[in-house]
Amino acid sequence: MNLSLTQGLNREMKSSPLGKMSSDPSICCIGAGYVGGPTMAVIARQCPGCQVTVTDVNGDRIAAWNSDELPVYEPGLAEVVSAARGRNLHFTTDIDAAIRGADIIFISVNTPTKQYGVGAGKQADLKFVELSARRIAEAADRDKIVVEKSTLPVKTAEAIGRVLAANTRGHRFQVLSNPEFLAEGTAVRDLLDPDRVLIGGERTPEGERAVARLADVYAQWVPRERILTTSVWSSELSKLAANAILAQRISSINSISAICEATGADIEEVARAVGMDSRIGSKFLKASVGFGGSCFQKDILNLVYLCETFGLREVAEYWEGVVEMNRMQRRRFAARVMRSLFNTAAGKRIAVLGFAFKKDTNDTRESAAIYVCNDLLAEEAQLALYDPRVTAEAIANTLNAGAGSFEVCASPYAAAEGAHAVLVLTEWDEFRGLDFERIYRSMKKPASLFDGRNILDLRALKRLGFEVHGIGRTIETS
Ligand code: NAD
Ligand code: UGA
Repeated sequence: MNLSLTQGLNREMKSSPLGKMSSDPSICCIGAGYVGGPTMAVIARQCPGCQVTVTDVNGDRIAAWNSDELPVYEPGLAEVVSAARGRNLHFTTDIDAAIRGADIIFISVNTPTKQYGVGAGKQADLKFVELSARRIAEAADRDKIVVEKSTLPVKTAEAIGRVLAANTRGHRFQVLSNPEFLAEGTAVRDLLDPDRVLIGGERTPEGERAVARLADVYAQWVPRERILTTSVWSSELSKLAANAILAQRISSINSISAICEATGADIEEVARAVGMDSRIGSKFLKASVGFGGSCFQKDILNLVYLCETFGLREVAEYWEGVVEMNRMQRRRFAARVMRSLFNTAAGKRIAVLGFAFKKDTNDTRESAAIYVCNDLLAEEAQLALYDPRVTAEAIANTLNAGAGSFEVCASPYAAAEGAHAVLVLTEWDEFRGLDFERIYRSMKKPASLFDGRNILDLRALKRLGFEVHGIGRTIETS
């Protein structure tokens, strides 16, 4: 952290956009997705002096941000957007105008795992980032600060800097790394009260001025001691490391859940006992059907690729194990469902409650539900799905029916009607309060219930007549 430097520079007054100016900077963000939209909405709300423009190539997404049906569901987000939209928060498809009007430009485009050529299946695909950098260089009419908000491999800032420098029409750019640590479902809370804000910049006077300029924006609501400044490379790597270590904890507890199922120990008891050690802590030790989301797997594979590139084979294998354990957890879950159905799911109705990768989001990317459902569809099951936030269209886009079939139902009760098994795959709060007696009555017998999130009282459900199965819990058969 370089606090005193940041504060010292705040007092400087320079006229270049790369220096400190007395007025609040104008901000633009390329990419109006799960990160760009909420992040910019919070900046606009907290910094009324900043004009914030969010831009995207996807016209439908921009139209949705300008409507009452936001494209991203996050608790509290609609309120934040409506407080600032039209005042100092704008959504537009006019990318060039947004770039021209901004002092600080965030790049918050998607960085999926590359699906072709060298590095396919592991390396981050940076084509959208590069396109954004080229667009900035072409459209810029003055010096700019360019901020990596997307999660990127170490040294990407250097590549962005080279693209900008090679295409500039005489303007200077400072490239900063400012990774985002928000989690979906708690994005607004995380943005308003972050554990830390990380800003990486070049260790040059110009770089440090750019870092200070961005730090000033966050300092309008984040305490200075939580704004960390590092080198660009440390910042880029910290983001990948944080996600890898969070996912590693989940894979660790999920691996122990497999031992629990084999031995009769209870994973909830084990996780509690382990997590009460203050050196370990209790967070991210919730056993589940597997972690999902757009980033954990992608970012670990990105880290694996980086290790392989630098000849660090053992390090690469170590981290790849976290992803493999997650795949195994999903497969194991589907296999247990099959066993409870006497190894034949063909033509059987199975209710799936929850499709989002976690509660309080409509995001299904890499959701464990996709993998479990596709395994069961391959066994020709008839799935009846319900999720309170995910649209039928989003579900249909991810499933591969084959000889099986799926339908999206309007309620958990409709999904469970006539089903042989009910699977809870997302920990939505509403599933805790369901009338399971009613559900049991409406199902075929024996009626199995699989709690892929360990949120239900399995003993009580067993008393109702269900054959119950949790993750790493042994209240198995009736
Ligand atoms: P997203 O797919 O929801 O949004 C990305 C947006 O960028 C899309 O709307 C897309 O149309 C737009 N885009 C792509 N190329 C463009 C271009 N050249 N010009 C203009 N717009 C363009 O992705 P996301 O979930 O918001 O993630 C963005 C980045 O943030 C990723 O690198 C991700 O790893 C990282 N991240 C995501 C989360 C999360 O919770 N989703 C959290 C932290 C970091
Ligand atoms: C994660 C990180 O928590 C964020 O800090 C990071 O910014 C983000 O990835 C990113 O880079 O995209 P997110 O994926 O939105 O956030 O949500 P998490 O709360 O981390 O959950 C990820 C997955 O792990 C979910 O499927 C969740 O159900 C699962 N999980 C989480 C568990 O199975 N057990 C746990 O104990 C915690």
